[in-house]
Amino acid sequence: MTKINVKICLGTTCFVMGGSKQQELIELVTRKYCGKVNVESSACLDLCRDNEFTGAPYVTVNEEVVSEATIEKVTDIIEKKINEQ
Ligand code: FES
Repeated sequence: MTKINVKICLGTTCFVMGGSKQQELIELVTRKYCGKVNVESSACLDLCRDNEFTGAPYVTVNEEVVSEATIEKVTDIIEKKINEQ
């Protein structure tokens, strides 16, 4: 099984828009999908430019960009990708 790559933005805009949820997301995804998912935090992913602040916080799951990323939204996409493999 190919591991799914999850990047969680911890840049300033995403951090401000997401509160403490990104750190919680990193811990949850690491624990819940151990062995199936690579999780890494990232500096600004350059997705918040051009007045796209309203989409923050951002997460990527493989190449898919998740805007207004919540724990539920991100885990739903991860589960979908695991089931597609
Ligand atoms: S701070 Fe997250 S995409 Fe820029």
